[in-house]
Amino acid sequence: MSMPTIDPILEGRRSQPGQLIEVLQDVQEICGYIPADAMKAVAKELGVPLMEVYRVANFYKAFTLKPRGKNVITICTGTACHVRGSDLLIDQVKGQLQLEPGETTKDGTFTVECVNCLGACALAPIVVQNGSYLDHMTPGKLRRIIDKTRGAKRKEASDA
Ligand code: FES
Repeated sequence: MSMPTIDPILEGRRSQPGQLIEVLQDVQEICGYIPADAMKAVAKELGVPLMEVYRVANFYKAFTLKPRGKNVITICTGTACHVRGSDLLIDQVKGQLQLEPGETTKDGTFTVECVNCLGACALAPIVVQNGSYLDHMTPGKLRRIIDKTRGAKRKEASDA
């Protein structure tokens, strides 16, 4: 997969190390992650050591260094969600999508991630799909959501 050009992001920000986080936010938005080549370009153009760019990109949860799928499913594994069965949700996605948390399906449709408490413990267990909170999740509900998303993707492909 080729990286979209990040030249417009760097426009007017060259030699401004203080812009590092904002520039990385824009790279994340445009590319969907922070590619290694983008880190090198940002380091060079902003005048920040590459190690520092890497450290910042690695430190903040908002940044991801690997490409993510079109649909990001985040399963909360905090205490309340764990007690109410988040392990079963993880087993569901592992079996259905053939991946481990932190991975992306080969067709790039799904990325599954785990987080520690999303701050909605009363509604546990919580899953977030592309930014939408889904409460009181069960393996069955999750299976249907994944099936529906897959079905929509197949329909998109056959309509094209
Ligand atoms: S533990 Fe899952 S929302 Fe708090």
